[in-house]
Amino acid sequence: VLVDKGTHRHFMAKEIHEQPSVLAYALSHYLDPARKAVDLPGPAPDFAAMDRLLLVACGTAYYACHVAKYWFEQIARIPVEIDVASEFRYRNPPIGGRDGAIFVSQSGETADTLAALRYVRDAGGHPIAVVNVAESSIARESDQAFEIKAGPEIGVASTKAFTCQLIVLAALAITAGRQRGTIVAAEEERLVTALARVPAQVADALGAEAHVSELARDLAKARDILFLGRGPMYPLALEGALKLKEISYIHAEGYASGELKHGPIALVDDSVPVICFAPMDPLFDKTVSNMQEVMARGGRVLLASDTDGLAEAADGAWATLSMPACDPVWAPIVYAVPAQLLAYHTAVEKGTDVDQPRNLAKSVTVE
Ligand code: G6P
Repeated sequence: VLVDKGTHRHFMAKEIHEQPSVLAYALSHYLDPARKAVDLPGPAPDFAAMDRLLLVACGTAYYACHVAKYWFEQIARIPVEIDVASEFRYRNPPIGGRDGAIFVSQSGETADTLAALRYVRDAGGHPIAVVNVAESSIARESDQAFEIKAGPEIGVASTKAFTCQLIVLAALAITAGRQRGTIVAAEEERLVTALARVPAQVADALGAEAHVSELARDLAKARDILFLGRGPMYPLALEGALKLKEISYIHAEGYASGELKHGPIALVDDSVPVICFAPMDPLFDKTVSNMQEVMARGGRVLLASDTDGLAEAADGAWATLSMPACDPVWAPIVYAVPAQLLAYHTAVEKGTDVDQPRNLAKSVTVE
């Protein structure tokens, strides 16, 4: 396939911007809009027969697993363990016949993830693949493979593959909930309706771009940047930090908001921007009080929230990013956009090679 940048300066920008249409396309393979239900493109894994679900991957795909842990636990009440593949494969973890394991990989060829998959299969577990490349090794060697339908991703830093991985993992979590009887049809309908709104909300979130590129002029001068989130926004904070490190070479750390006081708050002064992903969710007030702890120490808070959230908590923040209101369950997909844009524009400001960052490869097929 010949892929070009279109009118964009970098593949990464193009891939960020095509998310509304790519996510809608991915969703069209996983949802039945008439029934407002999930309709997987292939035979469903038997989640009711599982005692435990393992989610294993590397890099950005690992953070997709981390978000999905919250979904599978909440929606399907199944115990979930997440692991980076390079740790999992060498730890000799006990695997049983009632363990399911989902391996998430854009390329489907990452050496550590493939080795982890083979380990699970050989130990009698049930490997399931979530991949972008249908003919890949990880897809072929799994019991079932689900395509994320993101289309070719050229930028080394993953963007649209991450959000499409989340779409597929969301559909699998809802399927698991239905099979295990932890959600009723009305709840599935509610979750599916909210999920179907995500592409439009992602399009809205892209509207913050001009503002992000202004903020990036300041962020580019920082030596360290902290990202905070709670619940499923915690893994998004980790992903935001990874994205920024990968392409801007600024040191960044993602932290669970509630863990801030146990260490990283010592780093806070007026030279450390602290980016808070805070959708209006049941934990919003707690996130805000963590943010206030940062501001009380002179920290420069960048608050990303919706209109209600900003009205309630923007006082004293260094900057705000206005996000669309969205269902808190699926908010990590929508808030992935500001995470990507912040990294992208900070990198552009610094003049780094955005699509081909130093020392990184798109697909790591050797150990
Ligand atoms: C590399 C890429 C990352 C990617 C990771 C996992 O490190 O630079 O963007 O998240 O590999 O790749 P995979 O193809 O397995 O998703």
